[in-house]
Order: sequence, then C-alpha cells, then structure tokens
Amino acid sequence: MIDTRLAGQTVLVTGGSGNIGAAISRAFAAQGARVAVHHLDRDPPAPAGAGWAHVTPAAGTADELAEELGNGSFAVGADLSEPDGPVRLVREVADRAGPINVLVNNAAHCETPDTVDTLTHASLERHYRVNAVAPGPVQTGWMDEELVARAGEAVPMGRVGEPDDIADAVVYLASHQARWVTGQVLQVAGGHAL
Ligand SMILES: NC(=O)c1ccc[n+]([C@@H]2O[C@H](COP(=O)([O-])OP(=O)(O)OC[C@H]3O[C@@H](n4cnc5c(N)ncnc54)[C@H](OP(=O)(O)O)[C@@H]3O)[C@@H](O)[C@H]2O)c1
Repeated sequence: MIDTRLAGQTVLVTGGSGNIGAAISRAFAAQGARVAVHHLDRDPPAPAGAGWAHVTPAAGTADELAEELGNGSFAVGADLSEPDGPVRLVREVADRAGPINVLVNNAAHCETPDTVDTLTHASLERHYRVNAVAPGPVQTGWMDEELVARAGEAVPMGRVGEPDDIADAVVYLASHQARWVTGQVLQVAGGHAL
C-alpha cells in the first residue's frame, strides 16, 4: 500500500467546502491529514449583467464538513478578494493548527505572488514544492445535460470530469510520491488539452 505521508499534516484548502474543494478536503482527510476547510462565508453578488447568481454553500456547510472529516479538521472563513484576506487566513490557520504543510489554492479569485507560469529557480527555492493542476471541464453543476454531452465528446476519454478526478491528482502532487515534482502544471482533463 502506498504511504503518502500526509497523515498528521495540516492542509489548508481554500474554497474547501463545496464542489471540487470539498472533494479535495475529503481526499486529504482520507490520508489522515487535518484539513483547514476555508470558505467565503458570505454570498457576493454576481457581476453586473450576469445571467446567474453566485451560489455559496449554506452557512454551516464548512463546519459540518470539517466535523465529518475528523483528524482535528476545522472550518475557517475569509474573503480572499480583500487585500488582507489571505494573510489573515494563513495567520488564523497557523494560530489554530501550527505550521501549514500543504496549501491548496482551489478558490477562484485566489492568486499567489508566484504563479506557476512565472516561477523561476530563485522563487522555487523560496518554497518547498509548488505545482498546479489544470482541470478540464468538471461537472460541478454549471453544465446542463446537453453541455455535459457536448463537452464529453470533446474529451478524448469520452466524459467530463468529476470532482474526485481532480482531488486525487492534488493529493498525488502533495504526497511523498511526488517529492521530486515541482514547478509543474498537471493537466487533469481526460486528454482535453491535447
Ligand atoms: N468546474 C470546472 O469545470 C473547472 C475547470 C477548470 C478549473 N476550475 C477551477 O477549480 C476551482 C474549483 O472549481 P469549482 O467548480 O469547484 O468552483 P466553485 O464551486 O465556484 O468553488 C469555488 C470556491 O471558491 C470560493 N471563493 C470564491 N470567491 C472567493 C473569495 N473572494 N474569497 C474566498 N473564497 C472564494 C468559493 O467559496 P464559497 O464556497 O464559500 O462560495 C467556492 O468554494 C476553481 O478555482 C475553478 O476556477 C474548475
């Protein structure tokens, strides 16, 4: 059996309570990690003219998920579009759980000073390892049946993705098995990007 060496590690998953984020949180917890389940904690308005509304998971969803995960997991709210949001989030998690071993930047709008595209030898030295997952179309409720069928035809493997497809790849990149993998973008897309 593969030992990912993630047991007992503290993993911060931004946007970790819904859709792909929740699958990632569950996948790390299954490896024995303590998960800080970040959530936005408010329902921002959709952009002007948008024909859709932002649907944030109901209040308490992140708390319920953290309880389900066990391993000392907990929920933490922060708006990452606020200038001091990321710093406050990291401080709060570190205050509660100590050093963060793995950061999964899953939340949309969420950026780090070093993107994978602009990584250099020097910036890689500042991190232990940094990688990105580039998902193909994943059904998280935004595709109707017709779009699922059309998107599936465009994917060489013949189907759209599921949140677990992405979560397993994220766990791999954070695992001991990927210990010499850094600065990479992993396409997890059923061949869609080829
Ligand atoms: N689904 C796809 O087909 C697909 C394809 C390629 C890439 N992706 C990327 O994969 C990631 C997850 O996708 P998804 O479909 O699971 O997206 P999602 O359901 O929209 O989830 C995004 C998460 O980001 C959080 N978030 C958004 N704005 C935030 C803010 N200002 N501050 C803090 N948190 C914020 C949301 O928090 P709340 O839960 O509290 O609202 C939500 O949990 C996203 O980055 C998306 O761009 C998705």
